[in-house]
Amino acid sequence: MEANHLMPVYNRYPVVLAQGTGAEVYDTQGRHYWDFLAGIGVNSLGYNHPAIQEALARSAPLIHTSNLFWTEEGIQLSNKMADITGGFLSLWVNSGTEANEAGIKLLRRYGKTVRKDAILSLSGGFHGRTMGSLSATFVPAYQDPFTPLVPEFFEVEAGNIGALRAAMEQYRPCGLMVESIQGEGGVVPLPPGYLSEAAQVAREFDCLLLVDEVQTGIGRTGQWFGFQHEDISPDIITVAKGLGAGVPIGAMLARDGVAQYFQPGDHGTTFGGNPLAARAGLAVLTWLEEEGLAHVRQMSQVLEGRLQHLAREYPDIVMGYRGRGLMWGIVVSAPAKDLVQMALDRGLILNAPKPNVIRLLPPLIVGEEGIAGFYDILSEVLEQWRHTAR
Ligand SMILES: Cc1ncc(COP(=O)(O)O)c(C=O)c1O
Repeated sequence: MEANHLMPVYNRYPVVLAQGTGAEVYDTQGRHYWDFLAGIGVNSLGYNHPAIQEALARSAPLIHTSNLFWTEEGIQLSNKMADITGGFLSLWVNSGTEANEAGIKLLRRYGKTVRKDAILSLSGGFHGRTMGSLSATFVPAYQDPFTPLVPEFFEVEAGNIGALRAAMEQYRPCGLMVESIQGEGGVVPLPPGYLSEAAQVAREFDCLLLVDEVQTGIGRTGQWFGFQHEDISPDIITVAKGLGAGVPIGAMLARDGVAQYFQPGDHGTTFGGNPLAARAGLAVLTWLEEEGLAHVRQMSQVLEGRLQHLAREYPDIVMGYRGRGLMWGIVVSAPAKDLVQMALDRGLILNAPKPNVIRLLPPLIVGEEGIAGFYDILSEVLEQWRHTAR
């Protein structure tokens, strides 16, 4: 039925998920899964978390009001975000690509004042599927079917400061867009120090720095934002995914002095930051502040220990692993999608953003039992692969 009525843009697994708690989810056949994908980094508090259930219940009387009115939830969320970011102003949206779209518009708005149009982004990066963020995503398979794209976007080699400086000289851009760890690109961290140097080069050229924290932000790496592992302060930050723990919400956050390039009427979105989404966002930020960030750091060590072990036990298949906090990529010599399928068959949800990379994005509430469950099933898969491949 679904195949007849839905546009065929996704290849879905033949599994119907029905209910879950924490990092565990069940399908309609009653089969149990450890969920190490968390709705692609969205279900930060896992399934059925009491704080989110309460936020949803308390939103019931209002849900939505429009941005023509103030709401207490919206005010509280914007205040909290300002505390976390050191005074950034928020613009609430509904998804990651929309957050970037808003960021691109703010870059261009700034660009108008300094007569610059160009926007740079890094090779291997991913910023979304709408026309602006797609224009900043230099993946031919995503871009080519949709040309012409938005003009004046240029690709720069990720991790290469010389290339960045040359592009700054050539294009004189108003903005540079980067992810602190390239998630869709295969969980590829930028080389240590690159982000600080890039921020400095951007400043030299009066180019604003937009850090896309849609996947890495909101506690995923053990800090509020992935860029905080380096000592930089961006002009614009975009977030979404884990912020609402499943309720669609994103934000384009800009520092004081940059946010004001937007004036009334310059941008808008009907749903952005409605009371339902704001309450969910508040619940997530409160959990992170009170216990979540510390928990992510602790679980990160446990998970990294397990990855070390897998790399030692299966050096013929596990070529390495990389990441931070609760965002990891395991580089494998076997086809990642086959291993992911084998894991699914055994009750573990993973995914493969690249043919040789398995990605782990467990819910941030994952505990030691979940990590042990992941480890046991993936070990079984690797063991099985070793035997059948030989
Ligand atoms: C870094 C980054 N930016 C933007 C997006 C787009 O977010 P959304 O799918 O919510 O539009 C993603 C999604 O994977 C992402 O990882």
